[in-house]
This record gives sequence, C-alpha cells and structure tokens, in this order.
Amino acid sequence: MLFEQIATGGCQSYLVGCADTCAAVVIDPEASQIDRYMALATRDGLRIHYLVDTHTHADHFSASRQMARLLNVPVVMHRATSASHVDMRLDDGDMLAVGKLRLRVLYTPGHTIDSMCLAVDDRVFTGDTLLIGGTGRTDLPTGNAESLYDSLFSRLLRLDPALLVFPAHDYKGRSHSTLADEMATNPRLQVRERAAFVAMMANLNLSMPTHVTEALRTNLSGGKTVEQMLAAAAAVVPFMSLAELKRRSDAGDDDLIILDVRERDAYEAGHVAGARLLPRGQLELRVNQDLPDPTRRVLAYCELGRISTLAAATLREMGFQRAVALDGGMKAWREAGYALKAGAEP
Ligand SMILES: [Fe+2]
Repeated sequence: MLFEQIATGGCQSYLVGCADTCAAVVIDPEASQIDRYMALATRDGLRIHYLVDTHTHADHFSASRQMARLLNVPVVMHRATSASHVDMRLDDGDMLAVGKLRLRVLYTPGHTIDSMCLAVDDRVFTGDTLLIGGTGRTDLPTGNAESLYDSLFSRLLRLDPALLVFPAHDYKGRSHSTLADEMATNPRLQVRERAAFVAMMANLNLSMPTHVTEALRTNLSGGKTVEQMLAAAAAVVPFMSLAELKRRSDAGDDDLIILDVRERDAYEAGHVAGARLLPRGQLELRVNQDLPDPTRRVLAYCELGRISTLAAATLREMGFQRAVALDGGMKAWREAGYALKAGAEP
C-alpha cells in the first residue's frame, strides 16, 4: 500500500494507493490541497479513482467535488448523506475496490448521520467518529450522541484492536494511534455506560467551528467557497503593484484607466488621484457607458484587493483584455503612506 497523510491545520486527509495496480483513492480531501494531492499522486505514479468523504464536514471545505470534476471520477460518501453531488453511495459492509485494495465500509453515525469508517489492511480511517484521545462532537447538524455510543462500542471498537487509527482530525500533530491504545487511554472511551456517555457529550460546551455555515453550504451542495471564487478570479487576471500604480498616477498616465470599485462614500473619503468611481455592484450595468473602449488598459482597485480581483475578472470576461487588478488595496495604499485625494469625481 502506498500511503500519504496530508494535514491542513488539524484536518487530516489521506492518499491511499495500490502498489500493484497504481490505483488510488483520496480520503477527506481538503480544498486548499488539490495541487498537493495531484502532485503526490503523480510523484508516486498513482491514478486517483475515487474521492471519498467520511462524512459531511462542518469545519472545513471538501475538495471532493472539484477534484472529481478535474479527474472525471466519482465522489463517494455513505448513502445517508444529503449531499446532492455524490456519485456513488456506499452502504454498511460494502467494499470500495481500489486496485487490489478493498476499503470496507463501517456505517458509524453519531458525529453526523452520514459518518462512516473505512478499514483497509492494517488500518482504519475513522473520520470524526474516533479521534486520537477524543471523539467527534455530536452537537452539530445531524449529530446524535446515542448513535455515536453505538457506533463506537458496538461497531468500531469491536474490530481488531491492533488496527491503526487514522482520524479526520488531529490538532496536536499526531499522525495515528491504534484501537487498543484508544480503548486504554482515550478519556471519552472510559465512559462506557450509555447514559453517562450521552450526558458527557451533551455537556462539552464547544464553540461553533469557524465557517460552519459556509462549510455545510458548500460541502452539501458541491458549491464554491468564497476563497474558491476569489482563486478562480485571481487565476485569470494579472496584477499591478502599489508602487507601479503610484508611479503611473503621479505621472498622470493617460493610457491607464484607474477604476475605484468601492462605494461612493469610500471613494469620496479618499481615492487614488485620477481614479474614476464605478462600484463593483454596478459594473456590468454601467460598463458600456463608462468604458466604451475595450482596448484600453483598466486597473481595478478596492479596499482589500479581493473585490477588485473579481471586478477585473468580470471585465476580462466582458472583453476588456487589458484589465488588471491592484495587488493589494486602499488599506495597503494608506499603510504605505501614499497620497489620497478626497472629494467627488471631477
Ligand atoms: Fe467532522
């Protein structure tokens, strides 16, 4: 078995390949690591056949949909998921064939209703059902402490105690443990009486994960995150540095149309000398009248450099082939000590 563990902060994902056939699967891929999974697979001579999510993640963004589209392979989840973009739904006891490897599905609801563990050879991918020294929480949507109790004590912990445990999260830099170690030392597994376990899970008082609504929205729909929208825009526009814009603004460069895409109050409080005001929200509707010559060089800037990137991408899409975005925004411009002009448009 070819095996790579890829951590993104505390999120753990896995590239697992069959050494005989070079077929591979990625388990719980994370959206910011797509290039890394592809590069590792290429380095090891693997072809990815499946993208598997062990459950609907509420705390990070799954790369499954995006990678599945890139590779033209299925997204795989447990059949209890309500995610709409899943191509292959697995049931308890099913086996996913990855070359000669067989990933056996153990349905383990509790952390979420669609949680599953995957056992292959000497190891088990436990998702958020069992973590090193902990378990997944049960207070997020579809979580259920009673189910988690059954999944742990009646299912997962009855597997071979020597199995290596590879979880979907570890925040302390540990890569794995074993079922035997967890049974002996995991504090939550010492609470072996059902009612006490359920009471313990109900009294954890955990704070909500960051991005929970965005994670559920995108992971359930296969839709894009804000960062993915920005990355897609940034991939199709060139940028201009603050210093280059200052030089051109100071020189009164007539070739360059400088567009302030913020709202009017921000523009009037202070803008780059020579800039025109065209708020991002009005861009498409005003472009024909405000920018009649698509051959002109147009630079968009905003407060932080994100909206202007979207604006420049939109301009390029509409045919302004010389549209660029400022690398940075007015916040960085002010911090650099560059001059601002106050007042309405001339
Ligand atoms: Fe989770």
